[in-house]
Amino acid sequence: LENGVGRTPPMGWNSWNTFGCNINETLIRQMADSIVNSGLRDLGYQYVVVDDCWFNPNRDSAGNLQGDPTRFPSGMKALGDYLHGKGLKFGLYEVPLDKTCAQYFSSYPGATGSQGHEAQDARQFAAWGVDYLKYDWCSPTGTINDQVSTFAKMRDALAATGRPILYSINSNSIHAKTGPQRNWGDVANIWRTTEDITNAWDTGQSNGYPMGIKNIVDVTVPLAGYAKPGAFNDPDMMEVGRGGMTDTEMRSHFALWAMMASPLIAGNDIRNMDTATQTILKNARLIAINQDTLGRQASSVVADTNQRVLAKRLANDDVAVALFNQSGATRTVSTTAAAIGKTGSAFTLVDAWTGATTSSGGTISASVPAHGTVVYRVSGGTSGEPPVPTSTTLVSTSSG
Ligand code: GLA
Repeated sequence: LENGVGRTPPMGWNSWNTFGCNINETLIRQMADSIVNSGLRDLGYQYVVVDDCWFNPNRDSAGNLQGDPTRFPSGMKALGDYLHGKGLKFGLYEVPLDKTCAQYFSSYPGATGSQGHEAQDARQFAAWGVDYLKYDWCSPTGTINDQVSTFAKMRDALAATGRPILYSINSNSIHAKTGPQRNWGDVANIWRTTEDITNAWDTGQSNGYPMGIKNIVDVTVPLAGYAKPGAFNDPDMMEVGRGGMTDTEMRSHFALWAMMASPLIAGNDIRNMDTATQTILKNARLIAINQDTLGRQASSVVADTNQRVLAKRLANDDVAVALFNQSGATRTVSTTAAAIGKTGSAFTLVDAWTGATTSSGGTISASVPAHGTVVYRVSGGTSGEPPVPTSTTLVSTSSG
């Protein structure tokens, strides 16, 4: 979406994965403090997104949204001011229909969706200082055309406020279950590609609830052709540091999100991070690959049940290569400079995890532990485009 924001994938933190509905202003402020004190802010983690359950179940007499008076007694504007004062940006959750997911699927009271209030709510968000809106289609029904026109309504309402607000949508992948995924780049800055992520490596789902890391990668990799500055696939908030995976799997999770030009939205408790979690979230080489200004999502060079090789062209003509071992045993994963779009005979490889530099005449190869991912930044020679998948089909719908 050409609204001036999200030129590279957004980075930040979201309350949902760890806290669900158990949120309040003290918690969010503590998280903001920890994002600053841990150094994450200075690495690019900017957006602090308050997910579902911030709502007063009743709009005021003029129909305006209000924060829950018990959980957010200082009000939403004060929270935005606090975040801005810390050099952070403010994100909020809302839905296009009548009920939020917690109102629809659990016992959170009210029906505070934006349906019929789009312009008013957009103006309210802007007045509170909101910089990021997560807009979540929370209903098992709706055609793709309904979704396109409804999501476009809030896109236009946000634009009319004049405030740059990153627009994140979740179609809950209704259409993905029934047909090809739509390229939402004309509607939103980022769009979810699957059902909700869970804190596990592999749940065996291809697009059902809940999705493991590997399952989300399988669905999102073929959508590489849709990514560009201002418009990125969103394979959901990260589960790094949540304890459901080995350190090797968490490293793969982060490396693959970086390669897929995915939003890097942490979902763990930033107040309590172990060393492994910090090392992963703070990997500046992978963050640089993710935040590269060319805005490419890695395309698939090799894909079989045992391994995947992904290649992401970078603005300075380096190419980042991920050697991902999907199998259950250590194996050598290999590709060549030619296969990632480079020509020449002398290349330098920098390992994104260790920083080690090696020279290569063209072979790109590593011994990779089970479920592990080695990433090299490859420089030298000249670069063409790594092959872009042709298997994805655009759904032809107009967004008005
Ligand atoms: C949906 C979304 C989640 C989260 C919850 C909140 O399930 O996909 O990311 O926002 O709603 O209720």
